[in-house]
Amino acid sequence: MGEGLAVVILAAGLGKRMHSRLPKVLHPLLGRPMIGHVLDAAAALRPRSIAVVTGHGGAEVQAWVDGWADSDGARQGVAPRCAVQPHQGGTGHAVWCAESLWRDSSEVIVLYGDTPLLTAATLQELCARRQGGLVSLLVGELADPTGYGRVILGGDGRISRIVEHKDAEPDQKAVRLVNAGMMCVATEFLAASLPRLRPDNAQGELYLTDVLAMAAKAGQPAAPFILSDPTEVQGVNNRAELARATAHLRDRINLAWMQAGVTFDDPASAIVEAGVSLEPDCRIGAAVELRGATTVATGAAVERGCVVTDCAIEAGAHLLPYTVATEAHIGAGAHVGPFAHLRPGTVLDARVKIGNFVETKKARLREGAKASHLSYLGDADIGPDCNIGAGTITCNYDGVAKHRTVLGRGVFIGSDSQLVAPVTLGDEAYVGAGTTVTADVPAGALVVTRIAAVVKAGWVAKKRAQRAAAAARPGPA
Ligand code: UD1
Ligand code: CA
Repeated sequence: MGEGLAVVILAAGLGKRMHSRLPKVLHPLLGRPMIGHVLDAAAALRPRSIAVVTGHGGAEVQAWVDGWADSDGARQGVAPRCAVQPHQGGTGHAVWCAESLWRDSSEVIVLYGDTPLLTAATLQELCARRQGGLVSLLVGELADPTGYGRVILGGDGRISRIVEHKDAEPDQKAVRLVNAGMMCVATEFLAASLPRLRPDNAQGELYLTDVLAMAAKAGQPAAPFILSDPTEVQGVNNRAELARATAHLRDRINLAWMQAGVTFDDPASAIVEAGVSLEPDCRIGAAVELRGATTVATGAAVERGCVVTDCAIEAGAHLLPYTVATEAHIGAGAHVGPFAHLRPGTVLDARVKIGNFVETKKARLREGAKASHLSYLGDADIGPDCNIGAGTITCNYDGVAKHRTVLGRGVFIGSDSQLVAPVTLGDEAYVGAGTTVTADVPAGALVVTRIAAVVKAGWVAKKRAQRAAAAARPGPA
């Protein structure tokens, strides 16, 4: 007999009701495929092995699982392996297809790839409930049990069998206890039971659920582990259920952050993905999206409608409404937006100010630098305390290659200037408004390219008189 826990995740189903080219378990909730959420919960159990059973869209699912194994899995010391189910023979057949991957553990947890809300705590409790018996089963009590397998209890309150919805008699359909789809089962018993399954049911499949009746026949019926909150076990079979599960996950994540000291202006509309990390006393506005590995430090505020992906937001920084930031570092006390666009490679040091309609890309702005209005700063290194006037553009692209703009300390760029890269401006250089800078500027120098203004006194009155005279002249209509 083996030892340790093996997890088997069933993910070979077609997911017909999704009407999608993407395999069902790869549909994301809050930026992470369903299968990723299930793998996360499974890994938290520190199992000896994880097997993912694939079938429809198997190559795509396998590729995602391999990616997970290299990143999250490697970090947690688990390496999931995939087993192929060559045809849809049912859930029992699927578990059987992965036998070589679970056979040398002492117990097996079976999970479904389409129940992404499941938590590790619940799975732990499921294992504990087996108490040395043959099998324990997670059971939900649903107001509307349509579609689920019904859990039929014996007189002793233990499970005598599971009847699938499609096989159920009317009185069985009235049962509201349902099979959530997760069981913890003794390996020896599972291995002995699978060859005894028969496809004598409405779907002509080998039902894993029939092992519950086998346990009862063997004199060791399972005790149901009934979840008080059945949201955890809700399966996702169509897009409406996907949206509902996403909303549950969002509420769960936001509630946990509120309990940890984060203020949400409107937790029902803010989206915080699972990989995001927030410090106490930061504030998240309505309809904000925090994605990827974004971090927000204490005292920072991210206001309404910001979309922030893979960014670090330091203490006390402030993102004003509708800022879009990706792979950017936003330093302590920096002010950004409203309507700013920070693109990958942006680094804002402490107390930098970026105003409305400013776009940055691969740009570092050093401490105290300001670009308050309407600018594009790309491939640039902007020194401390520089002031970038409205309408300043770094012309970083010559149609072939990108070039850098480098500004020293305290450089002043007048409004509506172009900095044609590659170009370097020394400390405290001064660029007059409307200048096109095409050559390096030494420290302390003024550069200005400007056509002398022409002022014609009385021009407007003269022009008006000319027009009036022309209109009064008789001529063909
Ligand atoms: C299944 C259960 C049902 C339970 C419900 C909970 C069985 C027979 N029925 O029904 O009791 O209430 O889940 O959501 O177990 N899969 C495979 N290979 C197959 C068939 C399915 O890998 O041949 C996978 C699917 O990808 C899915 C999971 O198993 O992840 C469940 O399959 P699905 O077809 O959704 O089963 P349900 O009819 O929902
Ligand atoms: Ca299902």
